[in-house]
Amino acid sequence: MKKINIAIDGWSSCGKSTMARQLANALNYIFIDSGAMYRAIALYFIQQRINLDDHLAIEKGLEQISLSFQKNIQTGNNEIWMNGENVEQLIREMEVASKVSDVAAIKAVRAFAVAQQQAMGQQKGIVMDGRDIGTVVFPNAELKLFVTADPAIRLERRYQELLQTNPAIIREEVAANLQQRDLMDSTRAHSPLKQADDALVLDNTNLDRAQQFELAMKWAMEKIN
Ligand code: DC
Repeated sequence: MKKINIAIDGWSSCGKSTMARQLANALNYIFIDSGAMYRAIALYFIQQRINLDDHLAIEKGLEQISLSFQKNIQTGNNEIWMNGENVEQLIREMEVASKVSDVAAIKAVRAFAVAQQQAMGQQKGIVMDGRDIGTVVFPNAELKLFVTADPAIRLERRYQELLQTNPAIIREEVAANLQQRDLMDSTRAHSPLKQADDALVLDNTNLDRAQQFELAMKWAMEKIN
């Protein structure tokens, strides 16, 4: 069967990664969470106390970062490793969430991540989710989806997700973080979140995971056949 690349973009916490993972599993494709790469870079800058205004330190820092995705045999999920350490859990913490949009707005950081993402796509059979996948990373992707959902629904989903690992999480903090990331991701100078002209819009406000997956899978099969 012909292999294609599937680019999935959209707002924070609108279910992109879940759908991308489901699609990749069903099609036997590789799922890449591009946001995890920006989160890992943000984690490194936090750990190394790199000042985001210090361009030289950023360039030097990036040279020290080695990122890869490896399948976790227990969960079957593709997880991110940085410099020999599995950082899949660490990158989901609020400290990283609060810095990652600033980090992802830096031109050198984007160039570093995009080059690796494009290399991964050369073999086809990739489902990648992010903000600029259909516009910048894979402008020729055979299928582009732009995912949206009502902001209140997105907040509830993200809050419930974080609550699982942090019972003390405060809803207002999660709301403020989401709003700020949406604003920064869509207004930054380099590769802002934008719907590609040829993307199909998937509004999942009133869809559950199974319904969303069914629709995306239908669109994917139309492109593959
Ligand atoms: O999808 P996420 O919430 O894990 O993404 C983390 C941050 O990285 C978010 O602020 C947007 C940014 N990002 C980006 O700029 N480009 C991408 N392709 C993916 C994520």
